[in-house]
Amino acid sequence: MNNKRLLAIANYIEKNDCVVDIGCDHGYLSIYLKKNNLCKMVVAADISQNALNSAKKNINKEGLDIKTVVSDGLENIDDKVDTIVIAGMGGFTIKHILNNGNLKPIKKIIIQSNNDLRLVRYLLNDLGFGLVDNTIVKERNKFYEIMLFNRETKNVKEELEFGIMKKEYKEYYNFLVDKYQEIINNAPNKRNDLLIDIEYLSNWT
Ligand SMILES: C[S@@+](CC[C@H](N)C(=O)[O-])C[C@H]1O[C@@H](n2cnc3c(N)ncnc32)[C@H](O)[C@@H]1O
Repeated sequence: MNNKRLLAIANYIEKNDCVVDIGCDHGYLSIYLKKNNLCKMVVAADISQNALNSAKKNINKEGLDIKTVVSDGLENIDDKVDTIVIAGMGGFTIKHILNNGNLKPIKKIIIQSNNDLRLVRYLLNDLGFGLVDNTIVKERNKFYEIMLFNRETKNVKEELEFGIMKKEYKEYYNFLVDKYQEIINNAPNKRNDLLIDIEYLSNWT
């Protein structure tokens, strides 16, 4: 697999994890995990039957044994999973999935949200999960942030606001500063909030 974003997600998976890949689409992540023996088991789930058909086709092509389930979030997942992956969706859908699923058996959550990252961090904090680490990858000129949460970690406010900051990601922080500056130029009413972000991020650029 040469998808940096999915590889970064796979990097957070450990041998003993029982994973559900929510919104698996073509099943690439599930296939990669199973094929390389990177976890104990993986269930590929999606709300769309069409997406699952495509996943099933790819799974069969590889000759792998991966269960596929049509499910809105965790709704129809009756397997014993302890690790959730949700990637490639917006914050609103992720919020819906997390608020409506039984998270009791879950010890680890990996999220790549297309937006509203702050909202996702605060939501997971409210649900009892802390941000352990985040990885930024750039693919086809687009940045993606992959976040790892578990139950043991407690975050300070700064981490909930901005994530775990690392100097190595300064290209990403520079990109955000430019983006926020452009938003302020087009919508001056957002100035006060975004200036705080710009000031904080600039310390890391
Ligand atoms: C853009 S694709 C991302 C696929 C893959 N996770 C990735 O990161 O490459 C989003 C997938 O999420 C599925 N999806 C959207 N809402 C969902 C929900 N509530 N429960 C499960 N799957 C959902 C869509 O059907 C689609 O296949």
